[in-house]
Amino acid sequence: MVESQLESLAQSARERIGAAATAEELEAVRVEVLGRKGALAEISKGLGRLSPEDRARIGKLLNLAKNELEALLERRKQEFEEAALRAKLEAEWVDLTLPAPGPRPGVLHPLTQIQEELEDLFTSMGVVVLDGPEVETEYNNFDALNIPPDHPARDMQDTFWLTDGNCLRTHTSCVQVRGMAKLGPPLRMIAPGRVFRNEEVDPSHEHTFYQLEGMMVDRNVSIAHMLYFMKTLLRHIFGREVTVRLRPGYFPFVEPGFELDVQCLICDGQGCPVCKHSGWVELLPCGLVHPNVLRMGGIDPEEWSGFAFGLGLTRLVMMRYGIDDIRYLQSGDLRFLRQF
Ligand code: PHE
Repeated sequence: MVESQLESLAQSARERIGAAATAEELEAVRVEVLGRKGALAEISKGLGRLSPEDRARIGKLLNLAKNELEALLERRKQEFEEAALRAKLEAEWVDLTLPAPGPRPGVLHPLTQIQEELEDLFTSMGVVVLDGPEVETEYNNFDALNIPPDHPARDMQDTFWLTDGNCLRTHTSCVQVRGMAKLGPPLRMIAPGRVFRNEEVDPSHEHTFYQLEGMMVDRNVSIAHMLYFMKTLLRHIFGREVTVRLRPGYFPFVEPGFELDVQCLICDGQGCPVCKHSGWVELLPCGLVHPNVLRMGGIDPEEWSGFAFGLGLTRLVMMRYGIDDIRYLQSGDLRFLRQF
């Protein structure tokens, strides 16, 4: 009676172990048959009611069945584990013979590239590269450049004033003042750097942009010297002759003053947002240094003369690479920067 019960139990357990499709199903069979409250435990509980010989015989059979089923379960479990491992290896397989992606080097910002290029060019022409602070005194940014406090030209540039009376420099021309004090005449200097204006931001205006100031002071410096400098500069930058025009321009620190415009290289003079549909871009305001500026810089205007220019570096980058919105330059967007 018990024997046949045991045998059919073992038989069904064998079949279920063989048919289990997952480790979970297998575990369920184990609990049901071999668990503490499982079918085999149930049978062994009844052993006490049997005669001693039956108890010994059935106990032995129970043990045999238990060992057999445990071994079956264990083997099946290992099969599942191996299959899982194989699947994992298959999925995470890496071809170690493929070439490595290699280092991904960064690039210099296009403004830095152009600035360094121009520094090299000017250095080769015997020009000194000067640096000045971005927070500047009112005196250096305005007064010493012939823009006294009540001068209407103060309104030409919307200034970020600081509470201590200093300002964020609105142009690099303040480095002219520092250059005159530092170098004395004769001098040839450039000063690239960041400048700030309290402007409405649009495709061609930013509150922060870059200029490159140039100044040369010597005996008998003329507009011809100035034009030679500018043409060398532009040819170098664009790698070809560009169409330029010279217009009178007003800046209190130069006399006479000019605006040198470049025909818009983005639209070839047809008109686009960058040139405000005029076909021309103001790139190089310039002029002969005003005698008052020389005098305030401790240089005698009877003996010395000079020219100065303020190249718009940001505009230049836009022209050179055909960038139609100034806001890309400070966006920090790597998709933009990786193109240079
Ligand atoms: N500082 C002037 C500006 O930012 C440009 C300039 C520089 C003009 C030197 C003449 C000479 O608008």
